[in-house]
Amino acid sequence: MCGIVVYSGRGRDDAPALVLEGLKKLEYRGYDSWGITSVDRKGRVSTLKRVGKIGGADPRSVRKLLGSGSVAVGHTRWATHGGISERNAHPQFDCAGRIAVVHNGIIENYQELKAPLVARGHRFTSETDTELITHYIEEYMGKGLSLQEAARLVARRLKGRSAFVAVDTRSCRIAAARLGAPLIVGVGDKGRLFISSDVSGFLDHTKRVMYIDDNEMAALSGSGDRSRMPSFFEIGSGKRVRKRIITVGWKGGTESKSGYEHFLIKEIMEQKRTIAQAINQDDWRIRQAAGRIRNAFGVFIVGAGTAGRVCAAGEYLFSDIARKHVNSAVASEFASYRHYLTRKTLMIAVSQSGETVDLLDAIDVAKSKGARVLSLVNVFGSTLMRASDDYLMLNAGAEKAVASTKATTAQLSLLTLLAYATAGRLKDGKRLLLDTAAQVNDMLNPRYEDRIKRLARKLKGQKDIFVIGRGVNYPMAEEAAIKLQETSYIHAHGFAGGELKHGPLALVRKGSACIVMAANDDSKREIMGNAMEVRARGGYVIGVAPENSDVFDYWLKVPDAGSASPIVNIIPVQILAYHLALLRGINPDYPRNLAKSVTVK
Ligand code: G6P
Repeated sequence: MCGIVVYSGRGRDDAPALVLEGLKKLEYRGYDSWGITSVDRKGRVSTLKRVGKIGGADPRSVRKLLGSGSVAVGHTRWATHGGISERNAHPQFDCAGRIAVVHNGIIENYQELKAPLVARGHRFTSETDTELITHYIEEYMGKGLSLQEAARLVARRLKGRSAFVAVDTRSCRIAAARLGAPLIVGVGDKGRLFISSDVSGFLDHTKRVMYIDDNEMAALSGSGDRSRMPSFFEIGSGKRVRKRIITVGWKGGTESKSGYEHFLIKEIMEQKRTIAQAINQDDWRIRQAAGRIRNAFGVFIVGAGTAGRVCAAGEYLFSDIARKHVNSAVASEFASYRHYLTRKTLMIAVSQSGETVDLLDAIDVAKSKGARVLSLVNVFGSTLMRASDDYLMLNAGAEKAVASTKATTAQLSLLTLLAYATAGRLKDGKRLLLDTAAQVNDMLNPRYEDRIKRLARKLKGQKDIFVIGRGVNYPMAEEAAIKLQETSYIHAHGFAGGELKHGPLALVRKGSACIVMAANDDSKREIMGNAMEVRARGGYVIGVAPENSDVFDYWLKVPDAGSASPIVNIIPVQILAYHLALLRGINPDYPRNLAKSVTVK
């Protein structure tokens, strides 16, 4: 959560504009408020902070207020400590207004660290935990330490996953510390340097990056200095670390809306090709991963949010296709399984961003027990990818809408392929998924969308929507509910069809909407029975199925995709969620209170 972009150039650069442009690319990380501080050529420091999305910021007014200059530091915020206000937006400053700090993550020992500062007379002007970093740096520098050393000493004291960048607005020196949350240095031409929490913050300007690893920091000299290469240090010891420049091949996908009104619908429509892209992998890598799955003693498949639902579906896929027992777990709960982890365990970590803190913590648990980690990840160079023993890319391209769609079906596709490969049937898996990709391509046409739009009009006033599924479509029912909740704010609840009679049926009244995911598999007869139970109580039954039925009040046709049914079943619900958001006047790309990349616990 929260996006950081810092620029340090020389000469006639327009640093605030570059930072603004980068922050707009990171808006998906947080969109409560934003701020930029810049230092102009005469050394004048200006700060602009606003509540709301940075996407709406007009570059001309930012330029008017901040001028141009060669150094700027910016942040887009997802509030943790302190409410949403300009005062709490970053950058935060020390008492003298000299040190500007932007920060991502949480300082867990905040109270403990703040109290002595207050006792020593430091004035806090915000409710953020970030601000204490500025005051500690102020104190250390007051004792004659350099910015770099002061930032290092503060970083050593912080508990919890975070990252911060501190800028001395007088010397224009910059120190960036990574304590579990990502920070990457971008090396442009002519001594132009960037620091960002995500490569997309500067990818339009340079593809040459230097990764700051955990518990390391980077120091950038002032813009007037001749040597513009950053230096790297261990936070603990202060020892110098050597780094290589890596050229990122990843393009990050097209980041415009390509003519669509919102990222969400653009990304839903991109599923015409992303399913095929997801399984476009080297056979040997898939076979190697499958071999590891087969031979592991205990396989755990772990993810958070939507990815967590995909993992739950994965448990069924491996059972149905490969007769292999894998355990799925929600990342934030994974630590409870630690007693079952050994050096023979394989953890499959599934994530779009590769930055979700619950998942990174889960990996730490697995690694502490010597387990091997295979990640399925969309963002190249992400913390997850770098921390894993092996990885497979989802190849979905940048996913910007907070609600995951194309990454979800890419994850499902790759897991299905792995299940087939584990069963020794890689070719069959490829054939099935390529057929599914072609069917999805046909399905995503304007007439299909219109039919779903009509359904959205019927459902827009609902207070609750129930979703049921069985077998592999049970987790998909839960995922459908997540999609509806986050985009339409309608209370939605997904559960196993068989559980209906154990409670939820009491909530069904005349007109209650219930989506039924009825795949053409072993569970079909039973799930249709559950649909009937809803209908008998006056419920409005929406069938997501290859064939129509008298039980359905509204039918959303999906291809008969066999083991790939989760992929085709979730897509109409994604489209429904999008249109419900529009009809209810909600921005489908940026649900309230949520962020795309959840880097706090
Ligand atoms: C957030 C996003 C979800 C995503 C989850 C896990 O909640 O809104 O779309 O499924 O985080 O994210 P990851 O990047 O690890 O897949």
